[in-house]
Amino acid sequence: MSLPARALLIIAGCSQVLNAAEQQEKHERPHILFLMVDEMDGRLLDDETPQFKPPLSNLRALMKRGTYFPNAYSNSPLCVPARTSMVTGRFNSDIKIWDNFVGIASVNGDDGQIDQHCLDAYSRRECDQFAAEQKINGTFFDVLHDHGYNLTLWGKVHAGGGVERFSRHIFNDPFTGTGLVRESAKAWTRSTGVSSKKQDPTDWLQRPINVPKPAENFFDYPTADECTRLLEQGLFKSSTPQFLYCSFAVPHPPYQTNNTYWNLVGPLGKHAIPVQVPRDQLHPADEYYVKSKQFWNLDSCRPEHIEHFRRVYFAMCVEADHLVGRILKAFWNNVDPDSAFVIFVSDHGELNLEHRQWQKSSMKEASARIPLIVSGPGMPKGRRIQSLASLNDIYPTLVDMAGAASRVPTHQLAGESVLPMARWDQRKKNYVVSEYYDTFSRTGTFMVRQGEKKLIVHAPLENGVRWPAQLFNLADDPWELKDIASEFPTEVSRLEALLRKEFDVEAVDRQKKLYDHKMFMKYVYRRYSGPAGCQKAMTVAFPGFDEEDAKEIEKWLGKPCCKVMEGRVQRRAKYHTLACPSKMGEAVSL
Ligand SMILES: *[C@@H]1O[C@H](CO)[C@@H](O)[C@H](O)[C@H]1NC(C)=O
Ligand SMILES: *[C@@H]1O[C@H](CO)[C@@H](O)[C@H](O)[C@H]1NC(C)=O
Ligand SMILES: *[C@@H]1O[C@H](CO)[C@@H](O)[C@H](O)[C@H]1NC(C)=O
Repeated sequence: MSLPARALLIIAGCSQVLNAAEQQEKHERPHILFLMVDEMDGRLLDDETPQFKPPLSNLRALMKRGTYFPNAYSNSPLCVPARTSMVTGRFNSDIKIWDNFVGIASVNGDDGQIDQHCLDAYSRRECDQFAAEQKINGTFFDVLHDHGYNLTLWGKVHAGGGVERFSRHIFNDPFTGTGLVRESAKAWTRSTGVSSKKQDPTDWLQRPINVPKPAENFFDYPTADECTRLLEQGLFKSSTPQFLYCSFAVPHPPYQTNNTYWNLVGPLGKHAIPVQVPRDQLHPADEYYVKSKQFWNLDSCRPEHIEHFRRVYFAMCVEADHLVGRILKAFWNNVDPDSAFVIFVSDHGELNLEHRQWQKSSMKEASARIPLIVSGPGMPKGRRIQSLASLNDIYPTLVDMAGAASRVPTHQLAGESVLPMARWDQRKKNYVVSEYYDTFSRTGTFMVRQGEKKLIVHAPLENGVRWPAQLFNLADDPWELKDIASEFPTEVSRLEALLRKEFDVEAVDRQKKLYDHKMFMKYVYRRYSGPAGCQKAMTVAFPGFDEEDAKEIEKWLGKPCCKVMEGRVQRRAKYHTLACPSKMGEAVSL
């Protein structure tokens, strides 16, 4: 053998060794592409549910190349609670994040370091207190970063935790509580049962479709552009492990889209108008939901308005699919799909007028079910996994993908990795749970699903009344129109016992109600009016707020909630009277 040939052999052998080492490295810390949308009903991809199926061709292509988890749930169907439970891997009642007004206060588990948005909205002392109560030991972003991943974040995070230090291209402010009295006064007084007198949603059902650029949210198109560009330029060819997070707001409200997407959906046919439980047969919890969303008179709206609204939402889902699809195509064209993971998820769903409601915040399937697809090394292709899953599983799954399990005390996490589930179609825990405490629920709401059964449990009301639990069999009744709780009391007890293994229902609900009271006193009552003009401030939250409502507020608050009455002028001072239902009124000089 001549010398050059031998040299060539050695070089070839050497490069083989390098390839093996590279393979090893790839195997240990593969790149991860994390794709997220906001408010996508999980059933839109599930052909075993009767829900309408808009054409989501890119997501369906990902399902063919990966593993699909149709029975995945949000652990708290609302933006900030859902996202914080996802990035911490823990229940909201555990981390004390209950609503859209307070997100993760500390940065990477360091209580001395506070998220800047928290400081912008509240005082340092208040933020320190949030951090101390939350006891959050960092997020999965922090774990991946500490494990040597290069993080690139685009789009919506909405969780806090100071993750801006990884990227400036994100929307991450979950601390908007002190500014929006309309939202916060409504949220924090929910347990009084007061709701708006305006109950005709017609105005909200007619949204434009011909806007030139459909996604209202400023970051959706840049997010798609930049994530696509990074993949095309070879980000995932790097020897440094990469975590690329691309997260869209669409199909979140505002409900608008353009004709391109609208035409792709077409008329809804038998899905134009959802079948509803008659209004007089609604469970009291659902009645409160409908009224607090101001949809009580939905049945008298014109059918074409209802179909219009629903079709706009489905069109927005098609738009989301197109945005995600651009990134997926860049990924498939530039990355070996077996070398890197892709994970696709939404934070919660959208009721889209099912159960006479819009938006989320409900334990019903449309709101609580989320899409979840995972592709990559070892993930079966085109496989459908029946096992339940939830947002809490995302953290342990990412840690599993990254080979970083030894870095986190996994026993503290509420979920489990879906990677083994993809192979064996089995969860360690064969049920999932969810919890919700915000604006549209009069009291804490808890859900457990096991097999085809779903139980919804309500914490006691402020006045001690206890609403009965609701039980649905999703196999027989996919639209959840028939509550079978009274027919199957032993099934109710059995499922409720599972739920109570995870939550101390009464205790956590009490904590949230104390938080509501404290926040309302501090950031609405004292700040805006105190007793003088309390009724005026409340009218902003509840159009048509009246004397009866003021009584409820007083009872709950233990403080007068008054109206200022124009008074007479005496010795150049104008005297006004406070009219308070509790007769705590007095004449004041203003
Ligand atoms: C916090 O997380 C770090 C790693 O991220 C871990 O080493 C540590 O044990 C955790 N501490 C607690 C109290 O959970
Ligand atoms: C990290 O990602 C950015 C893109 O966001 C890229 O420009 C940079 O080169 C990456 N750094 C490493 C060390 O991989
Ligand atoms: C709808 O928006 C998309 C994305 O900006 C655009 O490509 C399309 O041309 C728009 N369609 C119409 C009818 O304006």
